[in-house]
Amino acid sequence: MSHVILITGALTGIGRATAVAFAREGASIVASGRREAEGKALEAELRGLGAEAAFIRADVRHDDEVRNLVDQTVARFGRIDAAVNAAGTEGQPGPLIDQSTESYAATFDTNVLGTLLSLKHELRVMQAQGHGSIINISSTYGHEGAAGAAVYAASKHAVEGLTKSAALEGAKSGVRVNAVARAQLTRACSTASPEARRGKRR
Ligand SMILES: NC(=O)c1ccc[n+]([C@@H]2O[C@H](COP(=O)([O-])OP(=O)(O)OC[C@H]3O[C@@H](n4cnc5c(N)ncnc54)[C@H](OP(=O)(O)O)[C@@H]3O)[C@@H](O)[C@H]2O)c1
Repeated sequence: MSHVILITGALTGIGRATAVAFAREGASIVASGRREAEGKALEAELRGLGAEAAFIRADVRHDDEVRNLVDQTVARFGRIDAAVNAAGTEGQPGPLIDQSTESYAATFDTNVLGTLLSLKHELRVMQAQGHGSIINISSTYGHEGAAGAAVYAASKHAVEGLTKSAALEGAKSGVRVNAVARAQLTRACSTASPEARRGKRR
């Protein structure tokens, strides 16, 4: 039986690449994002690769939408074997003295509240199943300072705190929770030397 994979932030970047990679492995995929037309196009693309796939719209900042995403995934595929929480934003980078309550909320609402709500509903299902794996997409800035990106770095530190705490709670029921703390990825970076890549992080 194929694995059932839920991916947030699946319409672009890392989330999209993850969805395509799982489709090629024969997984059943729920790809989530905020944009209906792009979501339906991705659903068709994943099916074209031979995967069972569904797009479900959800904004990770809203509890009811994340609950619906998780519940619809279970209704459709019966369980969730793994979840990749890739929805995220850089917010409004810039010097700390220029930050505001608005720039804080623009970053923390998606990166921190969104990760919390995703974990909350994914864990609810996986703890009841007695198995599952959750991957949060963090950043090297989740454990380092970042001049010009203090709010983003703080949000990714929070993602790593949530991940470690959720891992302790999930372990009791056989659910693994981890974070991938990646450096900056660009097309140029992906073909650059490891030394050059290490010089470009976020
Ligand atoms: N690329 C890198 O070098 C790098 C390095 C370290 C960490 N990361 C992390 O990796 C994750 C993925 O980033 P990426 O580089 O792949 O960038 P990306 O292409 O911008 O992907 C982020 C995705 O999240 C979605 N999203 C944003 N806010 C959302 C919300 N409130 N609800 C649901 N979906 C939302 C975006 O959709 P919309 O188009 O609707 O906004 C977008 O599809 C992020 O957490 C990022 O911080 C990336």
